[in-house]
Amino acid sequence: MQLPADSLARRRLGPAPNQLFIDGQWVDSRSGKQLDCVNPSTGEVIARIAAGNVQDVGLAVAAARRAFEGPWRQMLPHDRQAIMLRFADLVDRHYDALATLDAMDMGAPLARLQGGSRQRALGGVRFYAGLATAIGGQTIANSVSRAMASYTLREPVGVVGAIIPWNAPLGSALCKIAPVLATGCTMVLKPAEQASLSSLALAELLAEAGVPPGVVNIVTGLGDTVGAALAHHPGVDKIAFTGSGPVGQSIVRASAGNLKRVTLELGGKSPNIVFADADLDAAVPGAAMAIFGNSGQVCAAGSRLFVERKIYREFVLRVVAYANQLKVGDSLDADTVLGPLVSREQMERVLGYIDIGRQEGARALSGGQRLVEGKLASGYFVPPTVFGDVDDGMRIAREEIFGPVVCAIPFDTIDEVEQRANATPYGLGSGVWTRDIHKVQRLTRSLRAGSVWVNCYSVVEASVPYGGYRMSGYGREGGLQSLDAYLETKAVWVNAG
Ligand code: NAI
Ligand code: MG
Repeated sequence: MQLPADSLARRRLGPAPNQLFIDGQWVDSRSGKQLDCVNPSTGEVIARIAAGNVQDVGLAVAAARRAFEGPWRQMLPHDRQAIMLRFADLVDRHYDALATLDAMDMGAPLARLQGGSRQRALGGVRFYAGLATAIGGQTIANSVSRAMASYTLREPVGVVGAIIPWNAPLGSALCKIAPVLATGCTMVLKPAEQASLSSLALAELLAEAGVPPGVVNIVTGLGDTVGAALAHHPGVDKIAFTGSGPVGQSIVRASAGNLKRVTLELGGKSPNIVFADADLDAAVPGAAMAIFGNSGQVCAAGSRLFVERKIYREFVLRVVAYANQLKVGDSLDADTVLGPLVSREQMERVLGYIDIGRQEGARALSGGQRLVEGKLASGYFVPPTVFGDVDDGMRIAREEIFGPVVCAIPFDTIDEVEQRANATPYGLGSGVWTRDIHKVQRLTRSLRAGSVWVNCYSVVEASVPYGGYRMSGYGREGGLQSLDAYLETKAVWVNAG
Protein backbone atom coordinates (compact mmCIF):
# COMPACT_ATOMS: atom_id res chain seq x y z
CA MET A 1 0.00 0.00 0.00
CA GLN A 2 1.49 3.28 -1.14
CA LEU A 3 0.75 6.03 1.37
CA PRO A 4 1.32 9.69 0.53
CA ALA A 5 5.07 10.23 0.36
CA ASP A 6 4.71 13.63 1.95
CA SER A 7 6.42 14.09 5.30
CA LEU A 8 3.19 15.13 6.96
CA ALA A 9 1.44 11.91 6.12
CA ARG A 10 4.52 9.85 7.06
CA ARG A 11 4.57 11.48 10.47
CA ARG A 12 0.98 10.58 11.25
CA LEU A 13 0.74 7.23 9.51
CA GLY A 14 4.27 6.18 10.37
CA PRO A 15 5.42 5.61 13.92
CA ALA A 16 2.29 6.47 15.90
CA PRO A 17 -0.87 6.74 13.84
CA ASN A 18 -2.96 5.25 16.59
CA GLN A 19 -2.85 7.79 19.38
CA LEU A 20 -5.02 10.61 20.64
CA PHE A 21 -4.02 14.28 20.65
CA ILE A 22 -4.63 15.67 24.14
CA ASP A 23 -3.09 18.79 25.65
CA GLY A 24 -0.65 19.11 22.76
CA GLN A 25 0.70 15.55 23.22
CA TRP A 26 0.20 12.27 21.39
CA VAL A 27 -1.06 9.82 23.99
CA ASP A 28 -2.35 6.25 24.02
CA SER A 29 -6.01 5.63 24.65
CA ARG A 30 -6.80 4.37 28.16
CA SER A 31 -8.84 1.67 26.43
CA GLY A 32 -5.78 0.04 24.87
CA LYS A 33 -8.04 -0.75 21.91
CA GLN A 34 -7.72 0.20 18.26
CA LEU A 35 -9.90 0.38 15.16
CA ASP A 36 -8.99 -0.45 11.57
CA CYS A 37 -9.03 2.22 8.87
CA VAL A 38 -10.18 0.60 5.64
CA ASN A 39 -9.64 2.04 2.18
CA PRO A 40 -13.11 1.59 0.62
CA SER A 41 -11.66 1.55 -2.91
CA THR A 42 -9.70 -1.63 -2.15
CA GLY A 43 -10.98 -3.07 1.13
CA GLU A 44 -7.43 -2.90 2.53
CA VAL A 45 -6.59 -1.84 6.08
CA ILE A 46 -4.36 1.22 5.67
CA ALA A 47 -3.88 2.31 9.29
CA ARG A 48 -5.22 1.84 12.79
CA ILE A 49 -6.61 4.49 15.09
CA ALA A 50 -7.12 4.52 18.83
CA ALA A 51 -10.56 3.57 20.11
CA GLY A 52 -10.92 6.31 22.69
CA ASN A 53 -13.09 5.82 25.76
CA VAL A 54 -14.86 7.84 28.45
CA GLN A 55 -11.65 8.40 30.43
CA ASP A 56 -9.91 9.77 27.35
CA VAL A 57 -12.79 12.18 26.83
CA GLY A 58 -12.48 13.27 30.48
CA LEU A 59 -8.79 14.03 30.03
CA ALA A 60 -9.39 15.88 26.78
CA VAL A 61 -12.21 17.98 28.25
CA ALA A 62 -10.02 18.81 31.26
CA ALA A 63 -7.21 19.91 28.94
CA ALA A 64 -9.62 22.02 26.92
CA ARG A 65 -10.93 23.61 30.13
CA ARG A 66 -7.41 24.46 31.35
CA ALA A 67 -6.57 25.95 27.97
CA PHE A 68 -9.78 27.97 28.01
CA GLU A 69 -9.01 29.42 31.44
CA GLY A 70 -5.33 29.93 30.55
CA PRO A 71 -3.36 32.27 28.28
CA TRP A 72 -5.59 31.48 25.28
CA ARG A 73 -8.32 33.45 27.03
CA GLN A 74 -6.07 36.50 27.29
CA MET A 75 -4.75 36.30 23.76
CA LEU A 76 -5.63 39.30 21.63
CA PRO A 77 -7.90 38.81 18.61
CA HIS A 78 -5.08 39.89 16.29
CA ASP A 79 -2.85 37.17 17.66
CA ARG A 80 -5.52 34.48 17.27
CA GLN A 81 -6.07 35.76 13.74
CA ALA A 82 -2.36 35.51 12.93
CA ILE A 83 -2.29 31.92 14.21
CA MET A 84 -5.33 31.06 12.09
CA LEU A 85 -3.81 32.55 8.95
CA ARG A 86 -0.60 30.59 9.57
CA PHE A 87 -2.71 27.48 10.06
CA ALA A 88 -4.52 28.13 6.75
CA ASP A 89 -1.17 28.51 4.99
CA LEU A 90 0.03 25.21 6.46
CA VAL A 91 -3.14 23.42 5.38
CA ASP A 92 -2.64 24.97 1.94
CA ARG A 93 0.96 23.76 1.75
CA HIS A 94 0.06 20.23 2.86
CA TYR A 95 -3.30 20.12 1.13
CA ASP A 96 -2.44 17.36 -1.34
CA ALA A 97 -1.31 15.03 1.44
CA LEU A 98 -4.41 15.78 3.50
CA ALA A 99 -6.67 15.23 0.50
CA THR A 100 -4.90 11.96 -0.27
CA LEU A 101 -5.55 10.81 3.30
CA ASP A 102 -9.26 11.53 2.85
CA ALA A 103 -9.33 9.87 -0.56
CA MET A 104 -7.81 6.69 0.89
CA ASP A 105 -9.69 6.78 4.17
CA MET A 106 -13.23 7.43 2.90
CA GLY A 107 -13.11 7.16 -0.87
CA ALA A 108 -13.81 10.67 -2.15
CA PRO A 109 -12.13 11.05 -5.55
CA LEU A 110 -8.84 12.88 -5.20
CA ALA A 111 -9.75 14.98 -8.25
CA ARG A 112 -12.88 16.21 -6.45
CA LEU A 113 -10.93 17.03 -3.28
CA GLN A 114 -8.35 18.97 -5.25
CA GLY A 115 -11.05 20.97 -7.02
CA GLY A 116 -13.75 23.01 -5.29
CA SER A 117 -13.20 21.33 -1.91
CA ARG A 118 -9.76 22.89 -1.63
CA GLN A 119 -10.96 26.45 -2.13
CA ARG A 120 -13.87 25.90 0.24
CA ALA A 121 -11.69 24.47 3.00
CA LEU A 122 -8.99 27.13 2.88
CA GLY A 123 -11.43 29.95 2.23
CA GLY A 124 -13.37 28.86 5.31
CA VAL A 125 -10.41 29.06 7.66
CA ARG A 126 -9.45 32.46 6.26
CA PHE A 127 -13.02 33.74 6.47
CA TYR A 128 -13.17 32.90 10.19
CA ALA A 129 -9.68 34.30 10.70
CA GLY A 130 -11.06 37.59 9.41
CA LEU A 131 -13.97 37.40 11.81
CA ALA A 132 -11.64 36.90 14.79
CA THR A 133 -11.03 40.66 14.75
CA ALA A 134 -14.61 41.60 13.89
CA ILE A 135 -16.41 40.31 16.97
CA GLY A 136 -18.20 43.01 18.94
CA GLY A 137 -21.24 43.87 21.00
CA GLN A 138 -23.64 46.79 20.88
CA THR A 139 -23.98 50.09 22.65
CA ILE A 140 -27.65 50.35 23.60
CA ALA A 141 -29.70 53.39 24.54
CA ASN A 142 -31.39 53.16 27.94
CA SER A 143 -33.91 55.31 29.81
CA VAL A 144 -32.68 54.61 33.31
CA SER A 145 -30.45 57.63 33.65
CA ARG A 146 -28.24 59.85 31.54
CA ALA A 147 -25.32 58.69 33.61
CA MET A 148 -26.00 55.02 32.90
CA ALA A 149 -24.22 53.31 30.01
CA SER A 150 -25.50 49.97 28.73
CA TYR A 151 -23.69 47.80 26.27
CA THR A 152 -22.99 44.17 25.42
CA LEU A 153 -19.84 42.09 25.34
CA ARG A 154 -19.48 38.90 23.29
CA GLU A 155 -17.56 36.18 25.11
CA PRO A 156 -16.53 32.68 24.04
CA VAL A 157 -18.98 30.02 25.16
CA GLY A 158 -16.20 27.77 26.49
CA VAL A 159 -15.33 24.14 25.71
CA VAL A 160 -16.87 22.88 22.49
CA GLY A 161 -17.40 19.21 21.66
CA ALA A 162 -17.34 18.85 17.88
CA ILE A 163 -18.61 15.59 16.39
CA ILE A 164 -18.24 15.15 12.64
CA PRO A 165 -19.22 12.55 10.04
CA TRP A 166 -17.15 10.83 7.37
CA ASN A 167 -18.53 12.31 4.16
CA ALA A 168 -16.21 15.35 4.01
CA PRO A 169 -13.71 14.71 6.80
CA LEU A 170 -11.17 17.46 6.24
CA GLY A 171 -13.73 20.11 5.34
CA SER A 172 -15.92 19.20 8.33
CA ALA A 173 -13.00 19.28 10.75
CA LEU A 174 -11.88 22.69 9.49
CA CYS A 175 -15.35 24.16 9.62
CA LYS A 176 -15.62 23.15 13.28
CA ILE A 177 -12.07 24.21 14.23
CA ALA A 178 -12.17 27.64 12.57
CA PRO A 179 -15.06 29.23 14.54
CA VAL A 180 -13.64 27.79 17.76
CA LEU A 181 -10.30 29.52 17.17
CA ALA A 182 -11.92 32.72 15.93
CA THR A 183 -14.06 33.12 19.04
CA GLY A 184 -11.46 32.03 21.60
CA CYS A 185 -13.22 28.81 22.56
CA THR A 186 -11.39 25.51 22.99
CA MET A 187 -12.47 22.09 21.78
CA VAL A 188 -12.47 18.35 21.72
CA LEU A 189 -12.85 17.13 18.14
CA LYS A 190 -14.28 13.66 17.58
CA PRO A 191 -13.83 12.63 13.96
CA ALA A 192 -15.89 9.82 12.43
CA GLU A 193 -14.45 6.36 13.08
CA GLN A 194 -14.57 5.70 9.31
CA ALA A 195 -12.38 8.71 8.46
CA SER A 196 -10.15 10.11 11.20
CA LEU A 197 -6.75 10.30 9.53
CA SER A 198 -6.96 13.82 8.11
CA SER A 199 -8.21 15.20 11.44
CA LEU A 200 -5.24 13.62 13.20
CA ALA A 201 -2.91 15.09 10.60
CA LEU A 202 -4.30 18.56 11.37
CA ALA A 203 -3.04 18.28 14.95
CA GLU A 204 0.54 18.73 13.83
CA LEU A 205 -0.34 21.72 11.70
CA LEU A 206 -2.28 23.39 14.50
CA ALA A 207 0.72 23.04 16.81
CA GLU A 208 3.07 24.31 14.11
CA ALA A 209 0.82 27.35 13.54
CA GLY A 210 1.07 28.23 17.22
CA VAL A 211 -2.25 26.99 18.60
CA PRO A 212 -1.45 26.42 22.30
CA PRO A 213 -1.67 22.93 23.81
CA GLY A 214 -5.17 21.96 24.91
CA VAL A 215 -6.99 24.40 22.62
CA VAL A 216 -7.77 21.66 20.07
CA ASN A 217 -7.82 18.09 21.35
CA ILE A 218 -8.64 15.14 19.10
CA VAL A 219 -10.19 11.94 20.44
CA THR A 220 -10.85 9.21 17.89
CA GLY A 221 -13.16 6.28 18.51
CA LEU A 222 -16.73 5.09 18.23
CA GLY A 223 -19.73 7.38 18.33
CA ASP A 224 -21.64 5.67 21.11
CA THR A 225 -18.51 5.83 23.29
CA VAL A 226 -16.54 9.00 22.54
CA GLY A 227 -19.35 10.98 20.94
CA ALA A 228 -21.87 10.09 23.64
CA ALA A 229 -19.33 10.87 26.39
CA LEU A 230 -18.85 14.35 24.94
CA ALA A 231 -22.59 14.91 24.68
CA HIS A 232 -23.04 13.95 28.36
CA HIS A 233 -19.94 15.58 29.82
CA PRO A 234 -20.77 18.39 32.27
CA GLY A 235 -17.52 20.15 31.35
CA VAL A 236 -18.56 20.62 27.73
CA ASP A 237 -20.43 23.89 27.12
CA LYS A 238 -21.52 23.36 23.54
CA ILE A 239 -21.86 20.53 21.04
CA ALA A 240 -21.47 21.18 17.34
CA PHE A 241 -22.74 18.06 15.59
CA THR A 242 -22.94 17.02 11.96
CA GLY A 243 -24.41 13.62 11.14
CA SER A 244 -27.58 11.58 11.21
CA GLY A 245 -30.94 12.65 12.66
CA PRO A 246 -31.29 9.91 15.30
CA VAL A 247 -27.82 10.66 16.71
CA GLY A 248 -28.65 14.37 16.66
CA GLN A 249 -31.72 13.65 18.77
CA SER A 250 -29.69 11.53 21.21
CA ILE A 251 -27.25 14.44 21.57
CA VAL A 252 -30.05 16.84 22.39
CA ARG A 253 -31.24 14.45 25.11
CA ALA A 254 -27.72 13.91 26.48
CA SER A 255 -27.05 17.64 26.53
CA ALA A 256 -29.90 18.32 28.95
CA GLY A 257 -27.78 17.59 32.05
CA ASN A 258 -25.92 20.89 31.88
CA LEU A 259 -28.07 22.54 29.21
CA LYS A 260 -25.35 22.58 26.61
CA ARG A 261 -25.72 24.83 23.63
CA VAL A 262 -26.26 22.52 20.66
CA THR A 263 -26.08 23.08 16.94
CA LEU A 264 -27.10 20.28 14.61
CA GLU A 265 -26.38 19.91 10.93
CA LEU A 266 -28.35 16.82 9.92
CA GLY A 267 -29.48 15.15 6.75
CA GLY A 268 -32.28 15.68 4.32
CA LYS A 269 -34.34 14.50 1.40
CA SER A 270 -33.85 17.58 -0.66
CA PRO A 271 -36.08 18.43 -3.63
CA ASN A 272 -34.52 19.52 -6.91
CA ILE A 273 -37.17 20.94 -9.24
CA VAL A 274 -36.71 21.17 -13.02
CA PHE A 275 -39.20 23.19 -15.07
CA ALA A 276 -39.65 22.68 -18.80
CA ASP A 277 -38.44 26.24 -19.48
CA ALA A 278 -35.02 25.60 -17.87
CA ASP A 279 -31.72 25.51 -19.73
CA LEU A 280 -31.77 21.74 -19.95
CA ASP A 281 -28.17 21.47 -21.13
CA ALA A 282 -27.19 22.89 -17.74
CA ALA A 283 -29.94 21.19 -15.76
CA VAL A 284 -29.06 17.66 -16.86
CA PRO A 285 -25.52 17.61 -15.44
CA GLY A 286 -26.66 19.89 -12.62
CA ALA A 287 -29.39 17.51 -11.51
CA ALA A 288 -27.13 14.48 -11.91
CA MET A 289 -24.25 15.88 -9.88
CA ALA A 290 -26.66 17.29 -7.27
CA ILE A 291 -27.16 13.69 -6.19
CA PHE A 292 -24.23 11.71 -7.59
CA GLY A 293 -21.42 14.02 -6.42
CA ASN A 294 -19.40 12.34 -3.63
CA SER A 295 -21.43 9.22 -4.54
CA GLY A 296 -24.50 10.76 -2.95
CA GLN A 297 -22.85 11.06 0.44
CA VAL A 298 -23.78 14.70 0.81
CA CYS A 299 -26.28 15.92 3.40
CA ALA A 300 -28.02 18.34 1.01
CA ALA A 301 -27.93 15.97 -2.00
CA GLY A 302 -30.80 16.58 -4.42
CA SER A 303 -32.31 13.14 -3.93
CA ARG A 304 -35.87 13.94 -5.04
CA LEU A 305 -35.72 15.08 -8.64
CA PHE A 306 -39.05 16.65 -9.60
CA VAL A 307 -39.34 17.10 -13.38
CA GLU A 308 -42.16 18.91 -15.18
CA ARG A 309 -44.20 16.23 -16.91
CA LYS A 310 -43.90 17.60 -20.47
CA ILE A 311 -40.14 17.05 -20.42
CA TYR A 312 -40.05 14.22 -17.86
CA ARG A 313 -39.25 11.32 -20.21
CA GLU A 314 -36.66 13.14 -22.25
CA PHE A 315 -35.03 14.73 -19.22
CA VAL A 316 -34.79 11.55 -17.17
CA LEU A 317 -33.28 9.67 -20.14
CA ARG A 318 -30.68 12.41 -20.46
CA VAL A 319 -29.86 12.17 -16.75
CA VAL A 320 -29.53 8.40 -17.14
CA ALA A 321 -27.19 8.84 -20.11
CA TYR A 322 -25.14 11.37 -18.17
CA ALA A 323 -24.99 9.07 -15.14
CA ASN A 324 -23.90 6.11 -17.22
CA GLN A 325 -20.83 7.91 -18.54
CA LEU A 326 -19.57 9.01 -15.10
CA LYS A 327 -16.34 7.17 -14.41
CA VAL A 328 -16.62 5.12 -11.21
CA GLY A 329 -13.33 3.91 -9.80
CA ASP A 330 -10.53 4.00 -7.24
CA SER A 331 -10.49 7.34 -5.48
CA LEU A 332 -6.83 7.86 -6.33
CA ASP A 333 -7.23 7.39 -10.10
CA ALA A 334 -7.02 10.75 -11.81
CA ASP A 335 -10.02 10.12 -14.08
CA THR A 336 -12.35 8.91 -11.32
CA VAL A 337 -15.46 11.04 -10.94
CA LEU A 338 -17.33 8.83 -8.46
CA GLY A 339 -15.51 6.82 -5.81
CA PRO A 340 -16.80 4.00 -3.61
CA LEU A 341 -19.14 4.35 -0.67
CA VAL A 342 -17.34 4.91 2.61
CA SER A 343 -17.72 1.41 4.04
CA ARG A 344 -19.19 -2.02 3.50
CA GLU A 345 -21.91 -1.07 5.98
CA GLN A 346 -22.87 2.05 4.01
CA MET A 347 -22.80 0.11 0.73
CA GLU A 348 -25.13 -2.48 2.22
CA ARG A 349 -27.45 0.21 3.52
CA VAL A 350 -27.63 1.79 0.05
CA LEU A 351 -28.11 -1.57 -1.73
CA GLY A 352 -30.82 -2.32 0.82
CA TYR A 353 -32.66 0.85 -0.22
CA ILE A 354 -32.29 -0.08 -3.88
CA ASP A 355 -33.99 -3.41 -3.12
CA ILE A 356 -36.71 -1.62 -1.20
CA GLY A 357 -37.27 0.70 -4.17
CA ARG A 358 -37.74 -2.27 -6.52
CA GLN A 359 -40.11 -3.97 -4.07
CA GLU A 360 -42.10 -0.75 -3.85
CA GLY A 361 -42.52 -0.82 -7.63
CA ALA A 362 -39.99 1.81 -8.71
CA ARG A 363 -37.87 1.05 -11.78
CA ALA A 364 -34.07 1.35 -11.78
CA LEU A 365 -33.26 3.05 -15.11
CA SER A 366 -29.51 2.97 -14.47
CA GLY A 367 -27.20 1.31 -11.97
CA GLY A 368 -29.12 -0.64 -9.39
CA GLN A 369 -26.49 -3.10 -8.28
CA ARG A 370 -23.02 -3.31 -6.81
CA LEU A 371 -20.11 -3.08 -9.25
CA VAL A 372 -17.97 -6.19 -9.03
CA GLU A 373 -15.91 -6.18 -12.22
CA GLY A 374 -12.14 -6.53 -11.95
CA LYS A 375 -10.48 -4.39 -9.31
CA LEU A 376 -13.81 -2.92 -8.22
CA ALA A 377 -14.81 -6.24 -6.63
CA SER A 378 -12.75 -5.63 -3.50
CA GLY A 379 -14.14 -2.10 -2.96
CA TYR A 380 -17.60 -0.80 -2.09
CA PHE A 381 -18.82 0.53 -5.41
CA VAL A 382 -22.42 1.32 -6.29
CA PRO A 383 -23.03 3.02 -9.67
CA PRO A 384 -25.29 6.05 -10.09
CA THR A 385 -28.83 4.78 -9.86
CA VAL A 386 -31.86 6.59 -11.28
CA PHE A 387 -35.27 5.38 -10.15
CA GLY A 388 -38.26 6.17 -12.36
CA ASP A 389 -41.95 5.53 -11.61
CA VAL A 390 -41.42 6.79 -8.08
CA ASP A 391 -44.37 7.68 -5.91
CA ASP A 392 -43.94 10.30 -3.15
CA GLY A 393 -45.09 7.80 -0.52
CA MET A 394 -42.35 5.23 -1.20
CA ARG A 395 -39.63 4.85 1.41
CA ILE A 396 -36.97 5.61 -1.21
CA ALA A 397 -38.69 8.98 -1.75
CA ARG A 398 -39.02 9.76 1.96
CA GLU A 399 -35.89 8.47 3.72
CA GLU A 400 -32.31 9.66 3.43
CA ILE A 401 -30.34 7.02 1.50
CA PHE A 402 -26.96 8.79 1.48
CA GLY A 403 -25.82 7.05 -1.67
CA PRO A 404 -25.90 7.62 -5.45
CA VAL A 405 -29.63 7.01 -5.76
CA VAL A 406 -32.10 9.54 -7.12
CA CYS A 407 -35.90 9.38 -7.32
CA ALA A 408 -37.21 10.96 -10.53
CA ILE A 409 -40.77 12.19 -10.03
CA PRO A 410 -43.01 13.99 -12.57
CA PHE A 411 -45.14 17.04 -11.69
CA ASP A 412 -47.63 19.22 -13.52
CA THR A 413 -48.00 22.59 -11.81
CA ILE A 414 -46.00 24.90 -9.59
CA ASP A 415 -48.69 24.76 -6.87
CA GLU A 416 -48.45 21.02 -6.80
CA VAL A 417 -44.66 20.76 -6.83
CA GLU A 418 -44.29 23.41 -4.15
CA GLN A 419 -46.56 21.43 -1.85
CA ARG A 420 -44.92 18.06 -2.64
CA ALA A 421 -41.39 19.43 -2.30
CA ASN A 422 -42.23 20.66 1.20
CA ALA A 423 -44.01 17.46 2.20
CA THR A 424 -41.02 16.09 4.12
CA PRO A 425 -39.90 16.39 7.72
CA TYR A 426 -36.54 17.66 6.46
CA GLY A 427 -35.45 21.04 5.14
CA LEU A 428 -31.78 21.29 4.24
CA GLY A 429 -31.24 21.91 0.52
CA SER A 430 -33.49 22.58 -2.46
CA GLY A 431 -33.01 23.37 -6.12
CA VAL A 432 -34.98 25.18 -8.82
CA TRP A 433 -34.12 25.11 -12.52
CA THR A 434 -36.05 27.64 -14.60
CA ARG A 435 -35.65 30.77 -16.73
CA ASP A 436 -38.85 32.25 -15.31
CA ILE A 437 -38.20 34.96 -12.72
CA HIS A 438 -41.73 34.57 -11.31
CA LYS A 439 -41.14 30.92 -10.47
CA VAL A 440 -37.81 31.89 -8.91
CA GLN A 441 -39.39 34.58 -6.76
CA ARG A 442 -42.13 32.32 -5.59
CA LEU A 443 -40.13 29.17 -4.80
CA THR A 444 -37.16 30.89 -3.19
CA ARG A 445 -39.72 32.09 -0.62
CA SER A 446 -41.98 29.08 -0.30
CA LEU A 447 -39.47 26.23 -0.12
CA ARG A 448 -38.92 25.29 3.52
CA ALA A 449 -35.17 24.67 3.42
CA GLY A 450 -31.99 26.28 4.67
CA SER A 451 -30.62 26.71 1.12
CA VAL A 452 -32.33 27.26 -2.23
CA TRP A 453 -30.08 26.93 -5.24
CA VAL A 454 -31.42 28.43 -8.47
CA ASN A 455 -29.91 27.10 -11.70
CA CYS A 456 -27.11 25.54 -9.67
CA TYR A 457 -26.88 23.09 -6.78
CA SER A 458 -24.85 22.46 -3.63
CA VAL A 459 -22.79 25.62 -3.95
CA VAL A 460 -21.35 26.25 -0.50
CA GLU A 461 -18.94 28.81 0.92
CA ALA A 462 -18.09 29.73 4.51
CA SER A 463 -19.30 33.31 4.11
CA VAL A 464 -22.85 32.12 3.33
CA PRO A 465 -24.94 30.44 6.06
CA TYR A 466 -25.64 26.75 5.68
CA GLY A 467 -27.99 24.64 7.76
CA GLY A 468 -31.41 23.15 8.16
CA TYR A 469 -35.05 23.87 8.77
CA ARG A 470 -37.12 21.38 10.76
CA MET A 471 -35.59 17.87 11.13
CA SER A 472 -32.46 18.90 9.22
CA GLY A 473 -31.23 20.54 12.40
CA TYR A 474 -30.74 23.96 13.90
CA GLY A 475 -28.05 26.59 13.89
CA ARG A 476 -26.03 27.64 10.88
CA GLU A 477 -22.50 26.93 9.79
CA GLY A 478 -20.89 29.72 7.84
CA GLY A 479 -22.06 33.28 7.63
CA LEU A 480 -21.67 35.96 10.26
CA GLN A 481 -24.49 34.58 12.39
CA SER A 482 -22.72 31.23 12.82
CA LEU A 483 -20.47 32.88 15.40
CA ASP A 484 -23.45 33.39 17.70
CA ALA A 485 -23.41 29.70 18.53
CA TYR A 486 -19.86 30.05 19.89
CA LEU A 487 -20.47 33.25 21.84
CA GLU A 488 -22.37 34.35 24.92
CA THR A 489 -23.82 37.84 25.17
CA LYS A 490 -23.10 39.71 28.39
CA ALA A 491 -25.01 42.88 29.24
CA VAL A 492 -22.98 45.52 31.06
CA TRP A 493 -24.47 48.45 33.02
CA VAL A 494 -22.08 51.19 34.09
CA ASN A 495 -23.37 53.90 36.40
CA ALA A 496 -21.14 56.93 35.98
CA GLY A 497 -23.47 59.13 38.06
P1 NAI B 1 -23.81 9.01 12.58
O1 NAI B 1 -24.72 10.15 12.82
O2 NAI B 1 -23.94 7.79 13.41
O3 NAI B 1 -22.28 9.52 12.73
C1 NAI B 1 -21.86 10.87 12.71
C2 NAI B 1 -20.89 11.11 13.87
O4 NAI B 1 -21.58 10.93 15.09
C3 NAI B 1 -19.70 10.16 13.90
O5 NAI B 1 -18.57 10.82 14.38
C4 NAI B 1 -20.17 9.13 14.92
O6 NAI B 1 -19.09 8.44 15.53
C5 NAI B 1 -20.90 10.00 15.90
N1 NAI B 1 -21.87 9.28 16.73
C6 NAI B 1 -22.51 8.11 16.45
N2 NAI B 1 -23.31 7.76 17.49
C7 NAI B 1 -23.19 8.71 18.42
C8 NAI B 1 -23.78 8.93 19.70
N3 NAI B 1 -24.65 8.06 20.23
N4 NAI B 1 -23.46 10.05 20.39
C9 NAI B 1 -22.61 10.95 19.88
N5 NAI B 1 -21.99 10.79 18.68
C10 NAI B 1 -22.28 9.69 17.95
O7 NAI B 1 -23.92 8.61 11.06
P2 NAI B 1 -23.45 7.23 10.37
O8 NAI B 1 -23.82 6.07 11.23
O9 NAI B 1 -22.03 7.38 10.04
O10 NAI B 1 -24.32 7.23 9.04
C11 NAI B 1 -25.67 6.75 9.06
C12 NAI B 1 -26.57 7.58 8.20
O11 NAI B 1 -26.62 8.90 8.72
C13 NAI B 1 -26.13 7.79 6.76
O12 NAI B 1 -26.55 6.75 5.93
C14 NAI B 1 -26.79 9.10 6.42
O13 NAI B 1 -28.13 8.86 6.06
C15 NAI B 1 -26.75 9.87 7.71
N6 NAI B 1 -25.61 10.80 7.75
C16 NAI B 1 -25.82 12.10 7.45
C17 NAI B 1 -24.75 12.97 7.43
C18 NAI B 1 -24.92 14.41 7.12
O14 NAI B 1 -24.00 15.07 6.72
N7 NAI B 1 -26.09 14.95 7.30
C19 NAI B 1 -23.38 12.54 7.68
C20 NAI B 1 -23.27 11.15 8.03
C21 NAI B 1 -24.35 10.33 8.04
MG1 MG C 1 -24.00 5.54 13.29
